[in-house]
Amino acid sequence: MKVAVFALFFLGLLTANAKTLSILIGGSPDGWKEIAQDFYNKTGIKVNIVQGPPSTDAREIMYSISLLTKTKGFDLIYLDVVWLGKFASAGWLTPISTFVDPFQYFKNKNLTESSFLASLYAGQYYTVPIKADAGLLYYRKDLLEKYGYPVPKTWEELKIFAKEIKQKEKALGNDIEGFVFQGKQYEGLVCNFYEVLRGMGYELITQDQKGFKVAITEQELSNVFTFFRTLVEEGISPVSVINFEEEESRIVFQQGKAVFARNWPYAIKMLLEDEKMRDKFGVAVLPGASPTLGGWAIAISNYSPNKQEAWKFVDFLVDNGLKLLFLKRGDLPTKVDLFNDPEINQKLTYYEVIKQSIDLSKPRTIHPLYPRISSIIQVNLSAVIAGKTPPQLASQKTIRELKKLIEL
Ligand code: GLC
Repeated sequence: MKVAVFALFFLGLLTANAKTLSILIGGSPDGWKEIAQDFYNKTGIKVNIVQGPPSTDAREIMYSISLLTKTKGFDLIYLDVVWLGKFASAGWLTPISTFVDPFQYFKNKNLTESSFLASLYAGQYYTVPIKADAGLLYYRKDLLEKYGYPVPKTWEELKIFAKEIKQKEKALGNDIEGFVFQGKQYEGLVCNFYEVLRGMGYELITQDQKGFKVAITEQELSNVFTFFRTLVEEGISPVSVINFEEEESRIVFQQGKAVFARNWPYAIKMLLEDEKMRDKFGVAVLPGASPTLGGWAIAISNYSPNKQEAWKFVDFLVDNGLKLLFLKRGDLPTKVDLFNDPEINQKLTYYEVIKQSIDLSKPRTIHPLYPRISSIIQVNLSAVIAGKTPPQLASQKTIRELKKLIEL
């Protein structure tokens, strides 16, 4: 009898140990693979870190395809804040209340309040926030000083300063772009779009008791579109910006080939590590002071046969991983107390600007059909930047499409 119990116990251990979880992340696995190794050493549970494409849209499609099959696929899901509505309403995510009391958990772990709200969909908490994000302005401190320009406070100022500095440098034989941003037809472009739109004092969609409403006028939207078009038309941004995601913008700026760049906080680490750039750049709140709120969270697939093990990993990541993700990748932690950690604090250059930007940041429109709203903006704005559709016409078309989608 005893032998049988022991045999079962060891068999149980063996099967538990044989379990392998998987998660899809973007770009390099730096930080993630060390966390997975530590987790394996402590628990015997393997986590397969699958390296996906850097673009959020591409990974959203990969997760969606795998979840649509309702088979094991990925046990853990690393979600962009804007995917929550789609993933939760499709029934793809396991509510956190399956494992813990969400409110107590978020409080005990010192997770930021905004990320707590970002986990909520239709009365349930589904995700645990891992990475905080808000758009930032990167600028060439040396060039602004050289020509006596302040950091631009409005988008119009940015355009003027960028254009003038570019021309002055050109006269000295230095070819430099004025402003680089995420101009490709994907989610990143929509983040840039909201920043300009709100920075100009407009709002795209509002909600009251009667429902959602397209709040922007044709003229206002046309102003926003014109801003983007003239960046390219007036040579402030390169024509190739139409192919730029975050990394392309970061690389051009880091190589000293742009006066201004729009990017997320992760780029600070890389710029500081580059001795050619380290002392030449500065980081500020974006013109118009309306950064887009971004961020990433972890959730457990409803189709995972290993939910309890997956939760163990989530908890381990929250306790032991956020610091490493910051030190290795520059990912901003969602745990308030980590900002007082001496190692993080010492490396958290521009903390005040980052904090201010996160405080000022606004989410993209929260709507069950957000992916379609985003797609309407992506298609129309892209056509404007490429010079295929005039801003006025694209504005009429966008408003018509948005109204049809959300007001009927
Ligand atoms: C960042 C943000 C995310 C956003 C994406 C766009 O990863 O955290 O919220 O959707 O950039 O490219």
